[in-house]
Amino acid sequence: MFKWVFSSLVVVACLFGIVLLVTELPEKEQTAEPSPSFTVPDAPVDMAAAEQIYKSNCLSCHGDQLQGRVGPELARVGSEMAKEQIYKQIAQGGGGMPKYENKLSEEQLIILTNWLASKQ
Ligand code: HEC
Repeated sequence: MFKWVFSSLVVVACLFGIVLLVTELPEKEQTAEPSPSFTVPDAPVDMAAAEQIYKSNCLSCHGDQLQGRVGPELARVGSEMAKEQIYKQIAQGGGGMPKYENKLSEEQLIILTNWLASKQ
């Protein structure tokens, strides 16, 4: 008799464990995800527009040939950083670089990002 009670307790405990696993797992996956992800749309690179924006905003720190001055070289930045990282760096700045989300329009930020992403 005691054995029966004991084994049914074990079964109940196992079921409880399974239910916990099933209900907990999806939550963990969600918290493991990186902060709200976004993608920069693939637009045809408007070279002239990008270079114009670059010249008036970025050249002083990154150089006329993207060779870098106060800021790092950007000549191969497209192979070193993901487009989303490039966009974020320009929009939010950081590490000595000013942010441009208030100075440039969304469209200008995307043009610049796609232009830099093509520098590989
Ligand atoms: C006042 C100087 C300054 C200006 C102006 C500036 N940057 Fe920067 N930029 C920096 C510095 C300094 C860093 C390095 C930041 C770091 O290491 O965290 C940097 C980093 C970057 C990076 C990341 C490169 C890497 O290898 O980590 C990108 C991309 C970039 N800048 C693009 C731009 C663009 C595009 C503009 C113009 C809209 C611009 N920057 C204007 C100083 C500047």
